Amino acid sequence: MSQPLTARRSAPISGRVRVPGDKSISHRALILGALATGRTRIVGLLEAEDVMATARAVAALGAEATHDGGVFEVLGQGVGGLRAPDAPLDFGNSGTASRLMLGVVAGHDMRAEFTGDASLCRRPMGRVIEPLTTMGLQVEGERDTMPLTVQGTQDLIPIIYELAVPSAQVKSSILLAGLHAPGRTTVVEPLPTRDHTERMLGFFGAELKIEDRADGARAVTVCGDAELTGANLAVPGDPSSAAFLVAAALICPGSEIVIENVLMNPTRTGFFETLREMGADLEVLDLRDTGGEAAGDLRVKASALKGVRVPPERAPSMIDEYPVLAVVAAFAEGETHMVGLAELKLKESDRLAATAAGLTACGVEVRIEADDLIVRGAGSVRGGGRVETHMDHRLAMAFLTLGLGAQEPVTVDDVAMIATSFPGFVSLMSGLGAEFA
Ligand code: S3P
Repeated sequence: MSQPLTARRSAPISGRVRVPGDKSISHRALILGALATGRTRIVGLLEAEDVMATARAVAALGAEATHDGGVFEVLGQGVGGLRAPDAPLDFGNSGTASRLMLGVVAGHDMRAEFTGDASLCRRPMGRVIEPLTTMGLQVEGERDTMPLTVQGTQDLIPIIYELAVPSAQVKSSILLAGLHAPGRTTVVEPLPTRDHTERMLGFFGAELKIEDRADGARAVTVCGDAELTGANLAVPGDPSSAAFLVAAALICPGSEIVIENVLMNPTRTGFFETLREMGADLEVLDLRDTGGEAAGDLRVKASALKGVRVPPERAPSMIDEYPVLAVVAAFAEGETHMVGLAELKLKESDRLAATAAGLTACGVEVRIEADDLIVRGAGSVRGGGRVETHMDHRLAMAFLTLGLGAQEPVTVDDVAMIATSFPGFVSLMSGLGAEFA
């Protein structure tokens, strides 16, 4: 049953908080922990449904993940040491979990069924299946959406693969498969995407080469027959979750918040860069290194914003933040033109269409031109709409955020999916002064 929720215009948002751990890093910590020898201890792992799908999957393959007082411990089985699951692997809503785990299963002589919820079963898997089958994975029935049954092999072939779409999930899936292949597996990405897999592979002791090319492309090479050693990791806060708090503080007059320990990896900070260009009063304090990743404390104050053009090459560094950027843009003065958003159509929902529909329902002037989203901000937003979230956590959080700054209350049709990435979102926001009913 769906769980609607209404957000209303709020008093200033204020306080000092932390957001849950980064989702991308959390998935990878569990997976590399499973492929390492020895124990991996993870502090700050995101305990949300998407990541728990990965924890269940690695456990089903023989790498149990246990939990004790905020520390997750994975008992690694070594590269190539996992066993076939007894039952289908259910990845719920998580594209990252399913695509990365396809890369892992590819390098084991095992048959596995991959399935997920209705949203995940609509999403394209061909983008990972194509390179993985070139390496030796077999897919029953030549399907490219889940449910899928696949057969991996211990005799994977290393490849050199140029990404057709800028996708960290595809890159990571191939690199994870490459750990099992003899020789070198290279992924060339025309635009750099989030690089957590590479960073963490280095941290676990894999041999890796990264080449930044003159044309902006990046080539990542992993050496096969790898040996990974269990590690201790601390996961910083998720910037994609912090984005909703930052947006709320910007659009609710008089607000000021500090979000501690947010991941500041430059392949993830496009949203913050764009907000600064819009005139946001946003500061990173105490930038530091935590286990190969940068983190800092974000201080944000309510700001008068102006519309900007967001270039297409920035998209990979803020791909999950476009719905909430579109919300912020509605409160700015002037037009915000977000260019080159084709990938948004393939997320947990068609976020391009759904973001435009939600804004229209809230009285915002918005249009889609080819793959671009153009929002005409008028300094304030009427609100008053009922927004459809299409099983998409980020749409739910983006439009609840809009409701906090709009003149009339905004209702989203279902908040259940928020648990996939940001459990506690509503109570954390309420603690800062947000009003929901
Ligand atoms: C992710 C990569 C992105 C992003 C997703 C998480 C990852 O997807 O949208 O939420 O952890 O690798 P794509 O790589 O498909 O763009």
